[in-house]
Amino acid sequence: MAGETTDSTTLQTEAEVEQEVTPWTVQAGKRGIDYNRLIEQFGSQRIDPALLKRIEQVTKQSPHRFLRREIFFSHRDMQLVLDNYEGGKPFYLYTGRGPSSEAMHLGHLIPFIFTKHLQDVFDVPLVIQMTDDEKFLWKDLALDEAYRLAYENAKDIIACGFDVKKTFIFSDLDFMSSEPQFYRNVLKVRKCVTFNQVKSIFGLTESDSTGKIAFPAVQAVPSFSNTFPQIFGDRADIFCLIPCAIDQDPYFRMTRDVAPRLGYLKPALVHSTFFPGLQGPKGKMSASDPNSSIFLSDTSEQIKTKIQKHAFSGGRDNLEEHRKHGGDTDLDVSYQYLTFFLDDDAKLAQIKEDYESGRMLTGELKQVLIQVLQELVVQHQERRKSVTDEMVRQFMTPRPLNFDAARK
Ligand code: TRP
Repeated sequence: MAGETTDSTTLQTEAEVEQEVTPWTVQAGKRGIDYNRLIEQFGSQRIDPALLKRIEQVTKQSPHRFLRREIFFSHRDMQLVLDNYEGGKPFYLYTGRGPSSEAMHLGHLIPFIFTKHLQDVFDVPLVIQMTDDEKFLWKDLALDEAYRLAYENAKDIIACGFDVKKTFIFSDLDFMSSEPQFYRNVLKVRKCVTFNQVKSIFGLTESDSTGKIAFPAVQAVPSFSNTFPQIFGDRADIFCLIPCAIDQDPYFRMTRDVAPRLGYLKPALVHSTFFPGLQGPKGKMSASDPNSSIFLSDTSEQIKTKIQKHAFSGGRDNLEEHRKHGGDTDLDVSYQYLTFFLDDDAKLAQIKEDYESGRMLTGELKQVLIQVLQELVVQHQERRKSVTDEMVRQFMTPRPLNFDAARK
């Protein structure tokens, strides 16, 4: 393992820390995550200007800011999905969430904001998997608690504005025991994947529980349309597009590997970078440290204090230095957050210029972010409050969705 040393006089520099990205660990190297290296390692494709152009043509609108700013930066088979869509062959979207805590934070919203956008522009069905089983297996969580959190988190997801006529949210605990086709597909996948493969794809070992070893098939099968007979009947030929953070890619490398052997289509993917922690690009956001992130349940006052006190600054040590040299937007978390949430390109470019030239101070930059986030979180909270138990039940009931296999 890199970074290990037996010589206590040797300073263990951060440079020795190897970048490691799995669905359960995200360990950055010295200069943060090297996303180009991830693309190389994982064998995905960069979303290049040509693909952006193509997305713009097909959707007849300017690409979402997450695409314009390379927040969703990598993909697999995205052109294939677009080609088919243009030819009148629709697809469906699949994403998910591991419900491990009551409080969701801003970073958790990213895939859902993007998925909602894709649902709107392509007008396609969406399935959202709540992996309560996964969190039971990996965390110190009782089964009932994981199940309860799946329903709690579903409210925050619904508050993102998904269309109930086109969206099915399911808890694995519910759906695995009610839909025979789910377990059948899980079994087919398990038969194709050896313990050796799971060990090398996920880094699991002999001492991990058999629950963990068997789990990846459960995250794989929502990629196959016949897992959802209520939506797609027995059709296994509907394309699936999965928006997710790049740490989830191992699941879908495995899925794409087995799909042809089962006579199924390989799912396409679109990958995002990670949302930086409040206290620094390399800081980890954790639900147990309230100052490491902004939660969807924070008050406007808490948001203000957290940003003012804890948002890692790329500004200089003192006013004179700052005016002279300007701030570093690559390091500045407040600026980074604005790239995620401030939609206005011109305004963002102006802020970058002002901050980097030293005209704008850290406090002023933070003020812009505070306003943007207060507004976003208040609006989210209002929408969440209006999500009733009845609505949750609707979203989470297996049922037909608006889906037209042959689009006009
Ligand atoms: N494993 C994911 C998590 O822990 C949840 C998940 C399930 C998911 N299916 C997915 C995420 C599909 C993205 C796409 O959060």
